[in-house]
Amino acid sequence: TYCFAKDRIRESKTATIHPMDIGLIRGYGIFDFFRTAHYVPLFLQDYLNRFIRSAEKMHLPLPLDRAGLEDVILELVSKNELENGGIRMLLTGGISDNHFSPNTGSLFIFCEALDFPPMSKYETGVKLVSAEHVRAVADIKTTNYAFPVWHSANWKKEGAEDLIYHQNGFISESSRSNIFIIKDGKIATPDQNVLHGITRMRTLELAPDTEIRPITFEELLNADEVFMTSTTKKILPVTKIDNHAIGEGKPGKKTMALLKDFLEMEK
Ligand code: PDD
Repeated sequence: TYCFAKDRIRESKTATIHPMDIGLIRGYGIFDFFRTAHYVPLFLQDYLNRFIRSAEKMHLPLPLDRAGLEDVILELVSKNELENGGIRMLLTGGISDNHFSPNTGSLFIFCEALDFPPMSKYETGVKLVSAEHVRAVADIKTTNYAFPVWHSANWKKEGAEDLIYHQNGFISESSRSNIFIIKDGKIATPDQNVLHGITRMRTLELAPDTEIRPITFEELLNADEVFMTSTTKKILPVTKIDNHAIGEGKPGKKTMALLKDFLEMEK
């Protein structure tokens, strides 16, 4: 396969990164992740907007502008014959004398196989394990996932799909997905300490009456339906939080109707 590394498209296996890059030694960098559907990068402009915004907010110069990124992406899709695959853009913090200052980093764009949840998870719903945590600069898609990676041995042991973050009694998001609740027919999703997911954005367009507001952990447990959204999970029902069943403990009707509408958008 081919990837973009630093300044040009190359064989993926020849891509390298300097060990003193603060992307590695300080965990300072940004990325974004999207996918193709039938060779077309889905919602590409939204992902590019977010990636460019993340770079600006993290004071990292991007070596390519929007048109340059788009050209590289389309060329990689074609060269790699990426019919239904993932595309990851990554910009590292760069190398500096004091090992602390952002500098001109390295840009990588590479293609990957997609790892969608199996159908059975849409039929039964998944479990989330709660954890007191809040992502630093949460609206920026940084590469710092040390907490959930460290925690993953625990939640995997519990048969959970992922974590649900909360702090001071309020929920924010899962480690790699956004969260929605439904109570008495009303949909709600939090806005604070979250990444503004592209799938979340599409869901808000499908359900424009959704309340965007603080949501307590208590409300989450007492919801009729809960679901998570992300590029690979799409709209995935959540039926258990820790050892507490959500609603009737099975995927809710409204969640599944939204998933159906969402799947129409990528046809
Ligand atoms: N994760 N919140 C966080 C912290 C995320 O990392 C992601 C995406 C989301 C959902 O955003 P979107 O709908 O744009 O995928 C929310 C990607 C999939 C990942 O880390 O692999």
